[in-house]
Amino acid sequence: MSDIYPVNPEIAQKAHVDNEKYLEMYKQSVENPDAFWGEHGKRIDWFKPYTKVKNTSFDTHNVDIRWFEDGTTNVAHNCLDRHLETRGDQVAIIWEGDDPSESENITYKDLHERVCKLANAMKARGVTKGDRVTLYMPMIPEAAIAMLACARIGAIHSIVFGGFSPDALADRLRGCDAKCLITADEGLRGGRKVPLKANADAAMEKFDVETCIVVKRTGGNINMKDGRDVWYEDVTAATSSDCPAEELDAEHPLFILYTSGSTGQPKGVLHTTGGYLVYASMTHEYVFDYHEGDVYWCTADVGWVTGHSYIVYGPLANGATTLMFEGVPNYPSVSRFWEVCDKHKVNIFYTAPTAIRSLMREGDEPVKKCSLDSLRILGSVGEPINPEAWNWYNTVVGKGKCPIVDTWWQTETGGILITPLPGATDLKPGSATRPFFGVQPELVDNEGNPLDGATEGNLCIVDSWPGQMRTCYGDHERFIQTYFSTYPGKYFTGDGARRDEDGYYWITGRVDDVINVSGHRMGTAEVESALVAHPKVAEAAVVGAPHDLKGQGIYVYVTLNADEEPSDELKTELVKWVRHEIGPIASPDWLQWSPGLPKTRSGKIMRRILRKIAEDDFGSLGDTSTLADPSVVDELIENRQNRS
Ligand code: PRX
Repeated sequence: MSDIYPVNPEIAQKAHVDNEKYLEMYKQSVENPDAFWGEHGKRIDWFKPYTKVKNTSFDTHNVDIRWFEDGTTNVAHNCLDRHLETRGDQVAIIWEGDDPSESENITYKDLHERVCKLANAMKARGVTKGDRVTLYMPMIPEAAIAMLACARIGAIHSIVFGGFSPDALADRLRGCDAKCLITADEGLRGGRKVPLKANADAAMEKFDVETCIVVKRTGGNINMKDGRDVWYEDVTAATSSDCPAEELDAEHPLFILYTSGSTGQPKGVLHTTGGYLVYASMTHEYVFDYHEGDVYWCTADVGWVTGHSYIVYGPLANGATTLMFEGVPNYPSVSRFWEVCDKHKVNIFYTAPTAIRSLMREGDEPVKKCSLDSLRILGSVGEPINPEAWNWYNTVVGKGKCPIVDTWWQTETGGILITPLPGATDLKPGSATRPFFGVQPELVDNEGNPLDGATEGNLCIVDSWPGQMRTCYGDHERFIQTYFSTYPGKYFTGDGARRDEDGYYWITGRVDDVINVSGHRMGTAEVESALVAHPKVAEAAVVGAPHDLKGQGIYVYVTLNADEEPSDELKTELVKWVRHEIGPIASPDWLQWSPGLPKTRSGKIMRRILRKIAEDDFGSLGDTSTLADPSVVDELIENRQNRS
């Protein structure tokens, strides 16, 4: 039996839904999705109201997903203009700089003006509806402004996390054929400068854009190329702040976000306008039990989907005050998160288990120094939260009075799919609990047979929800193959899960070749292809292995070319190489020289075995009889890397 934490009655009293209401709404949402979403779709403004609600097919021959398809709207209008009359002077974004002495409050009126100016500046440089605009930005207000400016004119943004390398940025510029790049001179994180424009210059050597707009953040010395590069401050100073929001179809693309899969290069996940915004705003309100006047803080980076849906679009659509943090949890001290909570009286705090684990390691004192009295709801996202971290978050940070919403979702899902609701759901540490409205999870065995009751299996979703991705940008076939062909007719998440006797879901992690490092998603194939691109490497295999802080770390097996000798210097060089090829988040944690890799007679690497060896679990290597050369395994076990 797992621990159960019943709903806090004080929270329940004020909450949007209690358990009875959850059950009733959930039932309606799956029995009659047209009626349910037809009603809740009205939570955003429509220029032309929809008459059709759901038109979706998961049929493997013809996957087609449309929501509210004959309605027209605009995301920036919903996040800005519609609030001006009622809350123009309310703070929309609290920006907290890397340096604690720097912060800024931006009202809805200010934000609206700044978005309109940038939108006009982009239009003046030829960016129009449907064009792709890549953002490579630090966590500064201009990142949100740029997203909303794109949305306002119907341009499609594609954000590339500022930690990615020039090569990774170049691939993503090319992947969507970007017309414009918006970046900053340098970023600032933990007191250190990040050379964003220099990286962008290197990327634009490989894939050039028409216009590069550069925000002045640090004033550092950078190059500006005549005719292409312009300062954000200059182009926005000169423009009008009158820029009507484009009337866009509900299914007009809003953004592309590249994410890793089990094979090949990252794919461009495409989200569209109407359904995405309805889902992001509704989940933001219900999952965090957001109420008028709450100060809400999600610590993610806008380079990831969490930043899109739960720093910018969901909260702003709801007229919330959303906090945007430029820095890191341990700068200038390990109390920083808690100091920011006190400084801005944060009520709702949403972070990742990896941050919780690293702060937990510092003990209770850095937290107890702060009052944290404003906190009401805590959230977790990105990877399974281990019970030890859950308990610390609950007792030390939340003082036992703040429900923890452990939210399971993915870049592809656009918003949260499995989660507790603060006033409705009894909590079990480590469980994402129950599905959100409209979400129908199913566990299936490896043959795709649905499993009933308390069981464990592969997690699928059997019907569409409005926030779902619509396609892989420019490659609908890949979309179908990746998500709808393993178990035909169902969306396969790539995750495994257990369902307990109360119908609660416990996500057990990826069952494919995707690993989750500090909540960042990484394809083992990407790291492998970076390694084999090194002239001394013949072959490489990459697997995930348990890591105390990161959840999973990157364990690498490398076979060198016949004339190369392993050495510590070469090891360091290869780690550096991967950081250079992809970015620091892909840094291998352990590297093992392996003269041979376990392969089947047909030459396929048996990753199952490599995973077990990396996990120190060689008691259960399973069937090794199909190996071409079983002695390889003994050699690998003998030379395994010590992970402690
Ligand atoms: O394995 C699941 C894990 O993160 C994956 C999705 O990663 P990404 O697309 O980068 O989105 C992360 C933020 C939504 C999932 O397939 N994951 C995410 N949230 C949880 C989780 N695993 C367990 N519990 C969660 N709450």
